[in-house]
Parts: sequence; structure tokens; C-alpha cells
Amino acid sequence: MAEVVLGVAGGIASYKAAELLRLFTESGHSVRVVPTESSLHFVGAATWEALSGKPVQVGVFEHVDEVAHVRIGQGADLVLVAPATANILAKAAHGLADDLLTNTLLTARCPVMFAPAMHTEMWENAATQANVATLRARGHVVIEPAVGRLTGVDTGKGRLPAPAEIFAAALDVLAGRAQDLAGRHVVVSAGGTREFLDPVRYLGNRSSGRQGFALAAAAVSRGARVTVVAANVSLPRPAGVDVVDVVSTEELRQQVHRAAADADAVVMAAAPADFRPADVVGAKIKKTADGVAPEIRLVENPDILVELVTARTSKRPVIVGFAAETGDASASVIEHARAKLARKGCDLLVVNDVSGGQVFGQDDNEAVLLGADGSVEQFPRGPKGELAHQIWDAVVHRLD
Ligand code: CTP
Repeated sequence: MAEVVLGVAGGIASYKAAELLRLFTESGHSVRVVPTESSLHFVGAATWEALSGKPVQVGVFEHVDEVAHVRIGQGADLVLVAPATANILAKAAHGLADDLLTNTLLTARCPVMFAPAMHTEMWENAATQANVATLRARGHVVIEPAVGRLTGVDTGKGRLPAPAEIFAAALDVLAGRAQDLAGRHVVVSAGGTREFLDPVRYLGNRSSGRQGFALAAAAVSRGARVTVVAANVSLPRPAGVDVVDVVSTEELRQQVHRAAADADAVVMAAAPADFRPADVVGAKIKKTADGVAPEIRLVENPDILVELVTARTSKRPVIVGFAAETGDASASVIEHARAKLARKGCDLLVVNDVSGGQVFGQDDNEAVLLGADGSVEQFPRGPKGELAHQIWDAVVHRLD
């Protein structure tokens, strides 16, 4: 079990750190809370001492004989600052050491992770963005804030992600994932699109978005900036991911192209509807007195994956497709998949055998990964998060 230092900076979201602390301690980790002076305006030391079972110290001149300012960082397996304010990010980026937390950040040899929370203006400020870039370039993990309600009635980017999501990301960092996507922007599409027939009915599919969200979470833990274009996904949002919600294939297409403009890799894990109704009726379709069922004429949607391949000018971004295949009399699953990889022109194709329908909505997945270079990798059944890391391993090999 790990020795975790939980740094708490002075933001209103510091109350959520109490729940984060519980998640660590309840799963057997030992947590030492190091709050900043200003954070004690929001949550007092008594809360941290009671919940962690350890003394709490803010400055470097208490218990000097224990040399806490060096020992705490040296003994940690992970230093996690949540919430991380603009101020603590600035101090960390510049190596200031004027309290116990900043000293701990300088003495830590273990992974260091920041979960920022602040107002949108402060997050977007050029100084904060430069500090975040500096920290990431040094190999620290800085997860993206969530979008949502901020301190007052305002909403925007800057919210602390849910404690459970920060905890999941922290466990991945603790697992020692290499920061091999640091400085990279990756785009993942997830879920299944809906094509409306009338205001209440749509054509859809069984994709839950689980594999796409697992890919996003895995990329965050490897240091990437991650955009997920999510089609009708009702799962909790992975911490540190920019989620763009869409409904139809056309919306998915526009948002994927927009996000892909500066991407290093695009993974099309979504299941876009191949067809949409030729006409969308403005009012609900009624039954007729003579009982004749309406005929629905479909038109084909553009293939986003093919468009991405066609639009790229060099080998960047690395483009990954998914293929849900069944074998038939004419060819096996892999033969169909090889043909699809050639047709689509992407770099990698993740092939799921869906003969038994056993992929959708499940936590596990098994797949074969085909490369345009002729490579074939077989991944045995395992958690979707594990498959996600294997897919990123293959992507990392293909980045310049
Ligand atoms: N895809 C896409 N745009 C579409 C349809 C699919 O980008 N309009 C992407 C999916 O996200 C996936 C890959 O293409 O990464 C494979 O999709 P699939 O529907 O299995 O391929 P199809 O070309 O539609 O082949 P099939 O005839 O087997 O349906």
C-alpha cells in the first residue's frame, strides 16, 4: 500500500479533498495531508487530522527536529495536490519553497500530480497555462479541470473533477505508467450516435462509450491532453478530460475534425450510425387509420475515419479505427478486418469479434490489433482499461 501525500491548496473545492482522502484510506493507503495556510480558511486542520489519523503541519518551523520539509517528500509514493490553485501551480512551476507543501513538492522523487480547480479566467490565463506546460514538461501530471458549476452561479471550465475520478487517475499514476503521452493532444470518440426520425424517435446502437472513456482515462494517466467527443454517453466523466457532447453522426464529425486539427493521435472508438433517415419529420409520426407502416428511406453518413485519413498531410496524427466484426461464409473475422483496415487507410485497427454480442456495455473486452505495417497483436480478455493502455502503447510507437 502506498504512502500518499495529499496537498490541499486554498480553494473552495478543498472540501472535496476530504472525500478523496477517504477513498485512499478506505482502500488501505496511508495519507499525510499537507494543507496550505490559506486552505485552512475552507477546511480546518482538525478535519484532516481526524480523517487521516496523522498530524497536520502547514509551515516548516513546527517540529523542526523531524525535518518534515524533507522527510515527507522523500518518503512519499505519490504527491497529489487537490485542489491545486493557480497560486500553487505557479509556485511549483518556479520552485518556490515557502511552506511545507511547496518544500514537499521540491523534495519528492515520486510521481507528482495536480488536480487544478479555479475560475475559468484564472485557468485560461497565459501565466497559468505556461506554468501548467512547465510542470507537464517536467513529467508531472496535471489533469484538466472539469467543466461545470463553479463557486457561485457561474459555470465553465475550472471545476475540480469528482473525487472518485481523481482517485482513479491517481491509482493509474501510482501504477507507474510512463508519461509517454506528455505534451501530446489526443482525441477519442466514444459512444453511439443517434439519428432522429422525428422529435422523439431515433435510430441508435448499443455502444456504451465504456471503451472510449477507458482510453481517455488511460491517456490522462500517461500525461496527455485529452479531448473526448462523446455521443450519448451516460457514464461518469473521467477526470482531466475535455468532454464534448454530441448526438448525431454529423455533430460527431464536426467536433472530431475540429479537435483533430492539432492532435497527435485520433482514436475512433465511437460507433457512428452508418445511415440516417433521408427526411427528419418535424412532428411525431402518427399511426394511420389503415394500419400501413411508414417506409423510412435512409441515406449514408460520411465515414469520419476515412475523412481523417484523407485530410492528414503527413503521418500526423496517428489514426486508430475500431471494427466490430463477425465471421461469415466468405471470410473470417480477421480477414474482414484486414480488408477494412485497407479500405479505411488508418494506422491501427482494433478488432472486436462481436459474434455473440458480448462486447457492448461490458467492463471487459478482448481484441486483436492490426497495424497498417502488417503487425498483428492479440490481447486476451481483460478490463477495458488494460486494453486501452495496450492501444496507447501501439500509438506511442508510431508517434514521431
Ligand atoms: N466510422 C466512422 N464514420 C462512420 C462509420 C464508422 O468514422 N460513419 C468509424 C468507427 O468509429 C470505427 C470504424 O469506422 O472506428 C469502423 O466502423 P464500422 O462501422 O465497423 O465500419 P464500416 O466501414 O461501416 O464497415 P461495415 O460495413 O462492416 O459496417
